[in-house]
Amino acid sequence: MIVISNRLPFVIQKDDKGSTIRKHSAGGLVTAVAPVVVEHNGKWVGWPGPDYDFGAPLPESSPDDTTPTAGLKSSNVIPVPLSPNLYQSYYNGCCNETFWPLFHSMPDRAVFSADYWEAYVEANLLFAKNTIKGLDDMCTDDEPTLVWIHDYHLMLAAHAIREYAAKKQYKIKLGFFLHIPFPSWDLFRLFPWADEILQGMLACDLVGMHIHDYCINFIDCCNRRLGTRVDSKDMLVEHGGRYVRVAPLPIGIPFSRFVSLAKEAKRTIPEDKKVVLGVDRLDYTKGLPQRLKAFELLLVKHPEYIEKIELLQIAVPSRTDVKEYMELKEQMDQLVGCINGRFSTATWSPIRYIYGTIGQQELAGFYRDAAICFVTPLRDGMNLVAKEFVACQINSPPGVLIVSPFAGAGQNMLEALLCNPYELTETMDTLHRALTMPEDERTLRMNYLRKREQNQDVNFWMKSFLKAIGRLSEEGSPVV
Ligand code: UDP
Ligand code: G6P
Repeated sequence: MIVISNRLPFVIQKDDKGSTIRKHSAGGLVTAVAPVVVEHNGKWVGWPGPDYDFGAPLPESSPDDTTPTAGLKSSNVIPVPLSPNLYQSYYNGCCNETFWPLFHSMPDRAVFSADYWEAYVEANLLFAKNTIKGLDDMCTDDEPTLVWIHDYHLMLAAHAIREYAAKKQYKIKLGFFLHIPFPSWDLFRLFPWADEILQGMLACDLVGMHIHDYCINFIDCCNRRLGTRVDSKDMLVEHGGRYVRVAPLPIGIPFSRFVSLAKEAKRTIPEDKKVVLGVDRLDYTKGLPQRLKAFELLLVKHPEYIEKIELLQIAVPSRTDVKEYMELKEQMDQLVGCINGRFSTATWSPIRYIYGTIGQQELAGFYRDAAICFVTPLRDGMNLVAKEFVACQINSPPGVLIVSPFAGAGQNMLEALLCNPYELTETMDTLHRALTMPEDERTLRMNYLRKREQNQDVNFWMKSFLKAIGRLSEEGSPVV
């Protein structure tokens, strides 16, 4: 298989001595896809970061690398270097100032710009050309090669890849997976080049999304914008004489890897401490200011928690060149300062705020020892943190997961406590309920949550994707 995503699972950086090294990329896409590519000895096409000198050999992973990408050999990586200007308009611009807010149903934050769009088209073609290079030494006469395109950065790449493969008579199956929500027609229609996006995605054989709602939105947009024939029951869209299958395929995590990490992790949270844990990229979709305010309200309404609990919030720096993200950083710094200033005592502060990236081993220790994982995005495609937390809950009695219904995870993790993060009092009450939940209820809920994540792990997701893409005949007609 050949995987294409904007970001490689590592960026190339220079260390203190000037040598090039790999730095692991955080984010749901990399966490989920990297183990699958390594296991199947696949190739990965993606952006190597701004410090990569074009043509220079890629470094191998260091011997002490414990990330899931350690096994990805450099010979299996095809770097796609982007010029600074292109990177600015395509990645910071179209991807993160337009698609990210629009697809997360926050259109007021979205910027619509013809220059951004032009850069997006150019970058997608560049990724397609580099994928084609990889296909030349992968495609054989026997098995079709799976070309798997990931996420909103690359919604146009499939078309050029399909044309080239047809010319060369290569057998390929083209799959696309969207890791973020697909918005409703009402919002999607705001994008001026909506037709091109839909047609780009329909150049694939299979379009996978996390949940049924996103699939229904996509099918509806195809029907209303392109006038294509759709079958909403079997989730098929007719396009260019082919049927494109649309499938809800909720992503999972490498469950047993997280269990092992949790077993090995050192304890950094003392046993007598009740920690409410938040782990997020610093992104406005994650509802972080609302979360801090709900925590503050809890301390006001329930002063019995003063000196008894702590909010440990890890905020991974993300998209730091984009204005909205810079503003959020300022807002968080201020809020954390205000709340800590208001409630801290000589020996205790309510919020421990880490602005940085934590390695998965240390993270697993936090997940294992936290009393509560507080996952309250305003909108989120899936949210892997919620799943990683339950995998690491190996202590008895276990902790409690709180999750927002506006994350894909909130649709499937039914035994978690659900709360609407837009409503502060409800969020505060849910936190109080979690902190006071009896042990037997915690155990019952966590057992169900863990079982589901164990059964529907990242391998299950991968197999489901392959099964769904295999359900098309060679001529592209559906095998329903
Ligand atoms: N993560 C990490 N280090 C950190 C914080 C997060 O490696 O310090 C990882 C985390 O383990 C998870 C991913 O980043 O796998 C976040 O994925 P999620 O789906 O929750 O959110 P996304 O960042 O994709 O929006
Ligand atoms: C989300 C997106 C991924 C992205 C990740 C980190 O998970 O779905 O495509 O890689 O966030 O964001 P970044 O912009 O740093 O790649």
